[in-house]
Amino acid sequence: MNATMVPYAQKMSENALRLNAICPYYTMFPIDFPLEQLAAKPDTTRVLDPFCGRGTTLYAARLLGIPSVGIDINPVAVAITQAKLTQVTPQAVIRLARQILRTEEHDNVPTGEFWQWCYERETLREIVTLRTRLMSLATPTAAMLRAVILGILHGPQNKGLPSYLSNQMPRTYASKPAYAVKFWKTRNMTPVRIPTLDVITRRVNRLLEASPIASGGRVHLGDSVEKLGELQQKFDLVVTSPPYYGMRTYVADQWLRSWFIGGPSEVAYGTNGQIARQPNKDSFIQALADVWSATARRCKPNARLAIRFGAIPSARTDPEEMISETIARSEAAWEIKDIRPAGISPKRARQAEQFGRAGSAIDEVDIVAELTGRRSRTLGAQEVLDIRT
Ligand SMILES: C[S@@+](CC[C@H](N)C(=O)[O-])C[C@H]1O[C@@H](n2cnc3c(N)ncnc32)[C@H](O)[C@@H]1O
Repeated sequence: MNATMVPYAQKMSENALRLNAICPYYTMFPIDFPLEQLAAKPDTTRVLDPFCGRGTTLYAARLLGIPSVGIDINPVAVAITQAKLTQVTPQAVIRLARQILRTEEHDNVPTGEFWQWCYERETLREIVTLRTRLMSLATPTAAMLRAVILGILHGPQNKGLPSYLSNQMPRTYASKPAYAVKFWKTRNMTPVRIPTLDVITRRVNRLLEASPIASGGRVHLGDSVEKLGELQQKFDLVVTSPPYYGMRTYVADQWLRSWFIGGPSEVAYGTNGQIARQPNKDSFIQALADVWSATARRCKPNARLAIRFGAIPSARTDPEEMISETIARSEAAWEIKDIRPAGISPKRARQAEQFGRAGSAIDEVDIVAELTGRRSRTLGAQEVLDIRT
């Protein structure tokens, strides 16, 4: 996108976009990216994102009244996306929260220094009550309440009314316990009582005040290749962002949110089927090529595949070459039409900024391919330049 153009999201009502911000996710892309792709393919009838993360693509489709399907292997991503596809009233969500909190079921309150410092005692009991009950509820209202709590579980303390339930912490990712405890102790920051229902009520009213009509989205938990094989629908637009090369902390960074939806009460370092955890570059490229092959089998002729991709600086890899190699290696007739550096959205955070704490900006590219019947070859650096110009 040209820097002088008005981003698509700025043309939409701020209120309609609020639900998209229900909960951050470590490498989310700005909603302008899927909105631009939807504008470039106006005949789109169904959209797919095989690495849907927090469901940005699916929410963009909802804004335009288009059905969508998402897949992600991380249960936190699926819980957030689920809420973005749901149509419920704020009153129903607040009523459910109030009912659950009245029951005071709070077995398995986690113990240990981290928990004592992260949440005030009564606040923690309320969170555990909500966690216990929500784990056995599968209604749309419960899906919305679950994602709302994921979004307020940790974050910075502010001067006015509290917005988050935890002691001081980043909002995007959960700090590791030893680091967090040291941080709070050295600053003598004991956790204060935060009334859970008040924070939920404020957040729900704000998020759902003007949410758009739901347009028939579905999200599946699991490996993309496996889940794509089970789908029945056909797609004409795919907008996605696979795990960035070298980025290996998708699961560990969300450990507190993972706990809330039923995971262990300590940091989980497992691989959990994450493509980013492939042992080497070659198997990473092959794993993505397999996803593009499986994606093509679910696409109509002339379908458009738009990918935002990056590699962390320490991986010393050219993301353009790498992503074009994944397309060339797929057993599908994707023809690369465009490759360019990812555009900068002035208002919303780019994925790159999520890596700010690593100290250096990440190199991100957008690549567009079409299912034309002609297969792409691996592109050399000069050919990449030729496509761009
Ligand atoms: C870059 S993030 C996607 C972010 C998304 N565009 C957003 O706006 O939130 C990549 C996602 O791929 C998921 N993932 C990794 N390996 C996967 C696999 N084998 N199958 C499905 N999803 C996978 C990760 O859990 C992560 O959520």
